[in-house]
Amino acid sequence: MIVTVTSHKGGVGKTVTSIHLAAFFEKKFGEGSTVLIDTDPNASALEWSERGRLPFPVVGPEGDPGDEEHVILDSQGRLGGDDLEAAAEDSDLLVVPTTPEALSLNALMLLVEELEALRGNAEYRVLLTMVPWWNRSGANARKALEAEDVPLLKGEIRRREAFQTAALRGVPVYEVNERRAQQGWEDYEKVGRQVVKFR
Ligand SMILES: Nc1ncnc2c1ncn2[C@@H]1O[C@H](COP(=O)(O)OP(=O)(O)OP(=O)(O)O)[C@@H](O)[C@H]1O
Ligand SMILES: [Mg+2]
Repeated sequence: MIVTVTSHKGGVGKTVTSIHLAAFFEKKFGEGSTVLIDTDPNASALEWSERGRLPFPVVGPEGDPGDEEHVILDSQGRLGGDDLEAAAEDSDLLVVPTTPEALSLNALMLLVEELEALRGNAEYRVLLTMVPWWNRSGANARKALEAEDVPLLKGEIRRREAFQTAALRGVPVYEVNERRAQQGWEDYEKVGRQVVKFR
């Protein structure tokens, strides 16, 4: 399965999502089943893996992805035009992370319009990330997006400090020994189970 994680806006959790979807696939389908391709010039996913240890290989855009069955792509920001169309064509699913803030949602709607213009040739789902657990902004964003018929993944990722520790240490969040780290991983497991249904 090929999953591309993309968004127009930066800093909405693309890299964190790519790393944890790849970790979910590797656990579900076994060792050697999954590769993460980091096509972002900032190489955040590559650096994550170099700082510590991830259970799957991470390769750059020129790297040799090998023959893994499952490929997760952490895309560069702002895929548009032909690049977006090609990514949609090549992927079983595009996962589009967004935070629940108004500015993120505005940027999201521009991408949704471009995806809709591909007329059913793009299978995509929006993923709410960094959702504050202390207010209703996540639920409100979900309601607003549903009202616009934007296709959403049912699961969402709550804001957890542990993701930042995981990034610093170069490991998946389930290896972080902090309060609520396991809940962060459970959020991605739930999303992963929905994503594999698009195979
Ligand atoms: N669920 C979360 N809870 C708390 N912090 C998070 C969460 N998800 C991501 N972050 C943090 O938010 C920041 C941005 O996340 P990330 O790097 O994944 O976004 P991105 O979309 O890949 O950014 P860029 O556009 O720069 O590639 C990082 O510092 C990351 O650790
Ligand atoms: Mg990134």
